[in-house]
Amino acid sequence: MTFNRITVVGAGTMGNGIAHVFAQYGFNVTLCDPNQAQLDLALETISKNLDRQLQKGKLTQESKAASLNNIEISTQPKLIFPHSDMIIEAVPENMSIKREVFEQIGKYKSKHCLVASNTSSLSITALGAMTQTPEQFIGMHFMNPVPVMPLVEVIVGHRTAQKTVDAVVALSQKINKKPFIVNDYPGFVANRIALPMINEAIEALELGVGGVLEIDQIMKLGMGHPMGPLQLADFIGLDVCLAILEILHKELGKDKYAPSILLRKMVLAQHLGRKSGIGFYDYQSDIKNPTIAPQFT
Ligand SMILES: NC(=O)c1ccc[n+]([C@@H]2O[C@H](COP(=O)([O-])OP(=O)(O)OC[C@H]3O[C@@H](n4cnc5c(N)ncnc54)[C@H](O)[C@@H]3O)[C@@H](O)[C@H]2O)c1
Repeated sequence: MTFNRITVVGAGTMGNGIAHVFAQYGFNVTLCDPNQAQLDLALETISKNLDRQLQKGKLTQESKAASLNNIEISTQPKLIFPHSDMIIEAVPENMSIKREVFEQIGKYKSKHCLVASNTSSLSITALGAMTQTPEQFIGMHFMNPVPVMPLVEVIVGHRTAQKTVDAVVALSQKINKKPFIVNDYPGFVANRIALPMINEAIEALELGVGGVLEIDQIMKLGMGHPMGPLQLADFIGLDVCLAILEILHKELGKDKYAPSILLRKMVLAQHLGRKSGIGFYDYQSDIKNPTIAPQFT
């Protein structure tokens, strides 16, 4: 199958990264979001991230310009869906928002178009059913930051056709990602394992077992993790972490997945991590070199 036009729905943390990578590998990409400011911010972020790759010698000035040239933005997805060969959804981890998006995709997409969700934990089988063509639906779980992380967790829904799996594996390889195929279970593999660890780190902080510095350094220096679990939570977004844990807890029905009180409190306080400027760390004066947030010093 040839993919001439890729549409990415949702221009937040993940959407801008997914658009970046497809554009970098020569695909025509349209990034859709109802919020124009979010689209403008996404283009700015993509340009800055391409600059970072340029400085590291991974891109040339010409390929940076070509990548940016491959991206269009739109607040009118209905006009874009009929011309897309592949639509990748990256809207918030909320079933009712996703339902609205997939029902619209089902209504306006062309017959041959494949549809993927970047969901972290929602059922691929349930989301696929909303599009009317579950055989052409799949999970493509990219990791954050998308231009840097090599993995795509490919999730096969109950009605996903083998043809769709093969096409998405080949497509992932074209953008230089390593696809690994898993089955449709809450949290799949990555988040079923990573989120309970993050939640445990937050609970350890809440109970005073250790401070932010101790928890993150112990996991980095002792367990060989490139990032501590609290830093990782800030990076993912605490609202996203909470949403995933709530789904794991509800679907798998075990107390070990229950979100910690401190995580809930921080989301209510809008201390969401990097994207809101403060989480376990404070990013407000220097996003690259955050300090421990005043609440935790
Ligand atoms: N953040 C992570 O580290 C991470 C990693 C892997 C997967 N995910 C998953 O990716 C998805 C997106 O997460 P995110 O962190 O990028 O969220 P985000 O909050 O950063 O971005 C969501 C974007 O969706 C837009 N949006 C809202 N309603 C929309 C609609 N109806 N149509 C189009 N756009 C709409 C918002 O304006 C926003 O720009 C979620 O399912 C999340 O679980 C997140």
